[in-house]
Amino acid sequence: MSSNRDIKKITTHTLQVMKDRGEKISMITAYDYSFAKIFDQSSIDVILVGDSASNVMAGHETTLPITLDQMIYHAQSVVRGIERCLVVVDMPFGSYQGNSKEALNSAIRIMKETGGHSVKLEGGEEVVESVKRIVSTGIPVMGHLGLTPQSIYKFGTYSVRAKEEAEAEKVKKDALLLQEAGCFAIVLEKIPAKLAAEVSASLHIPTIGIGAGNACDGQVLVMHDMLGINNTFKPRFLRTYLNLNEQITGAVKKYIEDIKSGDFPNQQEQY
Ligand code: KIV
Repeated sequence: MSSNRDIKKITTHTLQVMKDRGEKISMITAYDYSFAKIFDQSSIDVILVGDSASNVMAGHETTLPITLDQMIYHAQSVVRGIERCLVVVDMPFGSYQGNSKEALNSAIRIMKETGGHSVKLEGGEEVVESVKRIVSTGIPVMGHLGLTPQSIYKFGTYSVRAKEEAEAEKVKKDALLLQEAGCFAIVLEKIPAKLAAEVSASLHIPTIGIGAGNACDGQVLVMHDMLGINNTFKPRFLRTYLNLNEQITGAVKKYIEDIKSGDFPNQQEQY
């Protein structure tokens, strides 16, 4: 099955049913109304309003600078564009790490002010208390393990995580803890495929992989990467489905040429 167009609205329950049936879950990031609308109409299952907005929308080097207010703005725009898919909103760095009360307040702001359907936060054992507190109020939470970009200054690089036994064991343990705490799904980013397969098999909730191999229950890519808007980022895990950078550059060059030559606008393009 390539899409779930027959399903009216995708919910966290739908994702669980998909895992139980062995149907893969499709997820993509979006940060604005227009792209969210295209992705929703293409029958994507989940849109993630990722804090990667910090990189691809705002041009920051890391995800750390984006604020809760800015994430809320992006999520509001995305929600206006969708009818059917599930919207997950990233909790930005600094909006949940202080304590579980702070995490709950941030999650409540996201849900109240955006109309999104769930939140995502990074980390394992260290965020379990916050996950429990958020879930206890009825807000669905997605976890995120492996390469967690908000901890980039701790890791030092964006290279593959959990290649060593100790870190792999922590990922396995954290995944079970997040499931127990009530997460409805977990993103596994840039970990060995074998480890992601083991984690996915050990959980009853779905895993969504990015650079984590084919055994995850679903896959996610950043829209700017998979559409080739950002054509300098070429990690091994990325499949590029378009070369939008080249196509847009060509179109804009032609537009400039047409203006300069006086060809645009022509008789039919004026009043
Ligand atoms: O912010 C983001 O885009 C993400 C994905 C890479 C999973 O968290």
